[in-house]
Amino acid sequence: MSLKIIVGTQWGDEGKGRIVDLLSAQSDIVARYNGGDNAGHTVNVANHTFKLHLIPSGIIHPHTSGYLGNGLVINPKSLWTEMEMLRDLNIQVSPERLKISFAAHMITPGHIALDRAREATRGKGQIGTTSRGIGPAYTDKVSRNGLRMLDMLDLQHFEEKLRRHLQKVNTELSVNFQTAPLAVDPIVEDYLNYARLLQEYIVDTGDLLDQALQAGKQVLAEGAQGMLLDIDHGSYPFVTSSNVTATGVFSGLGIGIQPVEKVIGATKAFQSRVGAGPFPTEVEGEMATRLRGTGDKPWDEFGTTTGRPRRVGWLDGVLLRYARRINGLTDLVLTKLDVLSGLPEIKICTAYRDQNGVTYSTPPLGISDLDQFTPVYETAPGWQEDLTSVRQWEDLPENAQAFVRFVEQIGGVRVMLASVGPERSQVVSVPA
Ligand code: IMP
Repeated sequence: MSLKIIVGTQWGDEGKGRIVDLLSAQSDIVARYNGGDNAGHTVNVANHTFKLHLIPSGIIHPHTSGYLGNGLVINPKSLWTEMEMLRDLNIQVSPERLKISFAAHMITPGHIALDRAREATRGKGQIGTTSRGIGPAYTDKVSRNGLRMLDMLDLQHFEEKLRRHLQKVNTELSVNFQTAPLAVDPIVEDYLNYARLLQEYIVDTGDLLDQALQAGKQVLAEGAQGMLLDIDHGSYPFVTSSNVTATGVFSGLGIGIQPVEKVIGATKAFQSRVGAGPFPTEVEGEMATRLRGTGDKPWDEFGTTTGRPRRVGWLDGVLLRYARRINGLTDLVLTKLDVLSGLPEIKICTAYRDQNGVTYSTPPLGISDLDQFTPVYETAPGWQEDLTSVRQWEDLPENAQAFVRFVEQIGGVRVMLASVGPERSQVVSVPA
């Protein structure tokens, strides 16, 4: 049985999408296990840029099926729009190739309105959510009030449940937030329509995954966001509302740990973050512009879902070690190595120091309160060469090789692959 898991080790946007795309070439199924359309995966194939928020990017390969597991919160409108966009690009999206878990929860315009309203009242404590209704949908799930994809299979029952949900949302909007109510009828009409369109895709994905694994198929579990945004292990409360970490695979797909073959962490050669929250190695000014890019290229550091410029900084080895522990990483894929070309020197944070001068190699009480620490850096010499046409390890400049080895040493996990550009082919295998 072969299950590979790919998880982002930072705050998202590590370039997982294209690594997933690459690994999908050897996979029969790619399954998403957490989050919703807050995620954004940019994939570049033959000069075409795909932006996917929900559907696993592996579906671009004709032999790969995409599964949306029970751990997701799904906005049916976003899903259908994405399905249509893929069809327009001549990618087949049929019930044979795309499967939606009956137990995945649903996002409604009510959840989106609540996300905005709750965020607006947080004042200085704003999380900077993607306004996609993610938090409120997971809140309804945990408080046992959620709508599930299963509900779409019986239209009369679905309509009643949806109306009750929207009425409750409207009460909350007017009583707690003094906000105008949502018009219920058009939403119900829309959602009944999506129910009709999506019904044939709704199945027991956990059971199908088990059958596939038993039959020796290759399955890739694709995490959305990055593990530092995990609801349990992230920089709470500046997190998303799902289990992003590799452990989320089992509850989010309905399978056990037995088939796991590899847990691959995607790590950018520097660090980025969208939204609020601590970021010890953040840089500003010229260096930030240098790392972020100017936004004229799709792979520059601007949010795929919201278009916001990402905060950027140096690679944080303390957080990388933390990611190794929580996810049980077996391998790393180091992305965007090419972006560091031309820098005279490159910093990596190897420890934190508190106000009393005490240094820590791991944060003493998790990662919520990182603002109290100053990063302790080690400096690696840079390289001037452009890496974008390098395909062999031997052809990487010595200092770039040394940087990769330094990341392995600091993170305590081997790097299997480094990416040197946005195209599928722009990767270098790293020898053990
Ligand atoms: P939410 O998931 O929309 O509730 O947003 C919670 C936090 O997670 C915010 O800081 C978002 O910017 C961040 N976030 C959510 N999804 C992504 C992602 O795919 N990449 C990077 N950050 C994300």
